[in-house]
Parts: sequence; structure tokens; C-alpha cells
Amino acid sequence: MTQRIQFSQTGGPEVLEMTDVTPAEPKAGEVRVKNHAIGLNFIDIYFRTGVYPAPGLPSGLGTEGAGVVEALGEGVTHLKEGDRVAYAQGPLGAYAEQHVLPAEKVVKLPDAIAFETAAACMLKGLTVQYLLRQTFRVQSGDTILFHAAAGGVGSIACQWARALGVKLIGTVGSQEKADLAMSNGAWKTIDYTRENVVERVRELTNGDGVPVVYDSVGKDTWETSLDCLRKRGLMVSFGNSSGSVEGVNVAILNQKGSLYLTRPSLNGYADTRERFEQMCSELFTMLESGKIKVDIAQRYPLEKAGEAQQALASRKTTGSTILLP
Ligand SMILES: NC(=O)c1ccc[n+]([C@@H]2O[C@H](COP(=O)([O-])OP(=O)(O)OC[C@H]3O[C@@H](n4cnc5c(N)ncnc54)[C@H](OP(=O)(O)O)[C@@H]3O)[C@@H](O)[C@H]2O)c1
Repeated sequence: MTQRIQFSQTGGPEVLEMTDVTPAEPKAGEVRVKNHAIGLNFIDIYFRTGVYPAPGLPSGLGTEGAGVVEALGEGVTHLKEGDRVAYAQGPLGAYAEQHVLPAEKVVKLPDAIAFETAAACMLKGLTVQYLLRQTFRVQSGDTILFHAAAGGVGSIACQWARALGVKLIGTVGSQEKADLAMSNGAWKTIDYTRENVVERVRELTNGDGVPVVYDSVGKDTWETSLDCLRKRGLMVSFGNSSGSVEGVNVAILNQKGSLYLTRPSLNGYADTRERFEQMCSELFTMLESGKIKVDIAQRYPLEKAGEAQQALASRKTTGSTILLP
């Protein structure tokens, strides 16, 4: 038998249960990975609470992890038993000792990248890759606004922006988080719990506003973000940490300066094996060069996944959180 976290109904952290299950055999095109570390992400909370529907219940949870290949289905050629690997997409179920998923979603890990590092940054780091390098390809000298700059995604974004010569203005919820974002390479921070974000952004950009806002906070920051953009700027709404943005009248994009809006996801960018490999390769190069150091600020045993999610949802975490099977 093997253990995994599953939930039979949506709800609070108490719906997560550690359960004994028979290890699944990989079908054609699949692999079974013995997890060494598992990534915790806000999206896991959306599935647990039902904001995003799980394909069926009971359901496993989690999509990010790193470990060793221990079984292969027919037709898998790019991996073999014993390979060190990581993944960030695929069916729910990474919160487990073992996880079966399509081999095309699994990448070999360079020796220099530890399992814990990979589990802490595959989903978050690939997200930053597409946000900064594809959705809006930032250039050296650009000034950009990035919300929740001391979080898991935000901490990587600060470092990646610094490496590209980009001036990242990061919003944060406390002084401690401001210090952390600055140490990760943010150019300036704004504490959005006590400062006027629009005024500060206008001051910092000579009244112009920024060409792009990366907003994962959602409901609470939606309108503020639009007001920080310069004319024809791009609003990248990529998360709902404070709740989903709903009921938008698209005319607001006209009123606030002929703005553009996109709502991207990792699955929309890493949608072919070729693009997935290219994005991983860029992320791994950033890690191996030391330009990005992943801050694993919280570690929890797998059975405490509910507690870990509670800490993430209540803004108590910084950097990345991992679960250890
Ligand atoms: N679309 C995609 O492809 C994609 C991929 C990965 C992640 N995401 C999104 O990116 C965001 C960050 O993910 P993460 O896992 O790295 O989480 P995280 O940033 O470590 O945690 C969320 C942070 O959001 C801020 N926040 C502001 N208002 C909040 C509220 N009402 N409740 C909770 N948090 C609030 C908090 O920072 P402060 O205290 O500093 O405000 C909190 O620490 C999430 O929204 C996630 O869904 C999207």
C-alpha cells in the first residue's frame, strides 16, 4: 500500500484525509514517480474549496513534485527507471508518496537541482517564465508592477526581473515581506495594506503608469491594477488569492486607457512537449547559474497538508512551501 491525501467533498482543510491506496500501475505513456518532495500551490486550495471543480470525487490533490521514476508504461522512451525527475502539470494527485502521470509532463532534473528545490519551483518558476518571457516579454529598463511579491511566485519573479534588468515594483502585505521582496531584487515595494498603490506607482513612474501589471490577487486588486497601467498597457490577471474577478464590464478597458487584458495559465503555455522542455530549460539555467535561488520558507510533513494550506490561505507564508512524504 501507499499513502496519498484525498478529499471526498469540497470544503475547509479538514476535508483532506491521508488514505492508504494500492499503487496504480502506469498505463501506456505514463510513469510512476516516487515523490521525494511535493510543491504546495494556491491552485490546490481552489480545487479543495471547489472554486475550480475536480474532475471527480474522491480526488487526489496537487500537481507539482519531484522524485525518482520507479515504473514506466508502454511506449515511454525519454525516461527510465531511477531517473531523477520533476513535474508541474497533469492529473491531481501529487500530494502522495507515489504519483502516476503522463510521461510527457515529466522532465529529467539536472544533477545540480535538488528534489526539494524542484518541488518548490517547477509550477511557480515555469509560471514566472511564461509571465515575464512570453505573456509580456519584459525588457531591461522596463518598470513593472507585480502583486504578492514575497509569495512563492512573487519571490521568483523578483529575482528573474532583477536578472533581466527590470525594475519590479512589488506589492506586499507587511514590512517583513517588503524586506524579503527587496532582498530578492524588487526595485521598490508598496505595502498595499496601508499605502495607496495607484499614487505610489504614479510617483515612481513620473505619472506615466506601468506597461504591465501581473495580478494574482484578483478581486481585491482588480481596479487598482487597471489604474496603475499606462495607456494601452497590459493587465495580466493570473490568480484569485483574494477571490475571483467577476462581473467585468469590458468597457472599463476603454475608460481606463484602451487597455489590454489576458487571463493566462501554465497549461495554456506549456501545452506541447517542445514548449514545456524549452521553458524548463530556461528555468533550470536560471537556477544553475544562481540567478534564482528558491526560498523554501516552510516545510510540512505530507499528512499536515491541510495545515500548510491554511497557512498559505491566511497570508502567513513567504516564498515556497513544500510537503515531505
Ligand atoms: N495562472 C497561472 O498559471 C498560475 C500559476 C501559479 C500560480 N498562480 C497564482 O499565483 C498566485 C500566487 O501563488 P502562490 O502559490 O505563489 O501563493 P503565494 O503568492 O505564496 O500566496 C498568496 C499571497 O497572496 C497575497 N494575498 C493578497 N490578498 C490575499 C487574500 N485575501 N488571501 C490570501 N492571500 C492574499 C498574500 O501576500 P501578501 O500578504 O503580501 O498580500 C499571500 O501570501 C495565486 O493566486 C495562484 O493561483 C497562477
